[in-house]
Amino acid sequence: MNAVKEYYNKYACHYNSSRKTKHFLKLNRIQLEFLIDNVGLESEVLDVGCGNGDFLKHFSNSCGIDFSEEMVAITKNHNLNACIGDATNLAFDDNSFDYAFSFKVFAHVPNCERMLSEMVRVSRKGIVFDFYKELSPKTIKDSLTKTTYLRHDSFNSIKFLLKDLNAEIKTTKEHKGYFMVYAIKQQRKEAKNEF
Ligand SMILES: C[S@@+](CC[C@H](N)C(=O)[O-])C[C@H]1O[C@@H](n2cnc3c(N)ncnc32)[C@H](O)[C@@H]1O
Repeated sequence: MNAVKEYYNKYACHYNSSRKTKHFLKLNRIQLEFLIDNVGLESEVLDVGCGNGDFLKHFSNSCGIDFSEEMVAITKNHNLNACIGDATNLAFDDNSFDYAFSFKVFAHVPNCERMLSEMVRVSRKGIVFDFYKELSPKTIKDSLTKTTYLRHDSFNSIKFLLKDLNAEIKTTKEHKGYFMVYAIKQQRKEAKNEF
């Protein structure tokens, strides 16, 4: 089994209580504010790697996916709309949601290009996500002590990745090594018929 998935399946029953620390309460408040400012709570959203549904619960029109069966079971127990799924292979049609968002997941996903491409594909307006910024105290500590953190990234690499996906960065915010990005989807220009 995938080591990250195995970790979150085991950790799921402790996840809620582990997120009650001052650090996570503040981080989640900042991330929720970032969502409210850029996406608004009335939008139809997909939460990719929704965990226990901490962000989902604020939206009236939302769906979450997570590859941990245990996390999804907890989210469903909170009467939230969630299903088992992989961030790199979203089981939704193109343009199914206003926005797709994802917090504290990117660092766990080896094929992050595919994850962003899927998020852009299923969204009509844009995406919100965070990544762990290279050479921050957090990423240095995590890469030395944790096995589930597979990656950290530079802002430039993310910028180029999004450009390739036709998504334009509108707003960013950094908090303790977590770099949040709001990018809007550009409409693809139709190729001109030269004939
Ligand atoms: C640190 S938790 C974050 C949960 C939630 N987004 C939050 O901010 O509290 C990471 C979550 O991402 C999920 N995850 C990691 N890789 C994934 C993947 N490839 N597809 C779907 N879920 C994934 C894990 O199962 C876990 O629930």
